[in-house]
Amino acid sequence: MWDLKGTRQTLKKSDTRKRSAAYPFEIPYRLINMYSLKGDTILDPFLGTGTTTLAAIAAQRNSVGYEIDPAFSAIVEQNIESLPLSFYNAHIYNRVEKHKQFLEERNADTSKAPIKHFNEKLNMQVMTAQER
Ligand SMILES: C[S@@+](CC[C@H](N)C(=O)[O-])C[C@H]1O[C@@H](n2cnc3c(N)ncnc32)[C@H](O)[C@@H]1O
Repeated sequence: MWDLKGTRQTLKKSDTRKRSAAYPFEIPYRLINMYSLKGDTILDPFLGTGTTTLAAIAAQRNSVGYEIDPAFSAIVEQNIESLPLSFYNAHIYNRVEKHKQFLEERNADTSKAPIKHFNEKLNMQVMTAQER
């Protein structure tokens, strides 16, 4: 279960807005981190406003998208250009901080088996061999 809020549909033009159904950045960001590695290429066959591309950038992946409605092209470009580096950095920083908090709680719980994996670059425990 992922406890995520929906995202505001910010587009003004009604027909583009109706199609876009933008989802929260966190969804593609988590999935990209789960199912690909740095440098991989992420394909979104229904690109819309380009949330997947923004998440791919944050996760240091390349990104390709298909979008049937040409009106989205400028929106995607604008979304990419308007997000400052500080947005991506803050997201990555928060992710690491949340993981630290998770480790504290998890390691304090004596009913759980010890964590087996360690990521040397991050200098912290991780849950899976892939995260290592
Ligand atoms: C649910 S939206 C994508 C939402 C997007 N991930 C976002 O956060 O903005 C689906 C998009 O797929 C596009 N679409 C629908 N049929 C398509 C097709 N056959 N090929 C390419 N794009 C298509 C729609 O125009 C719409 O923008």
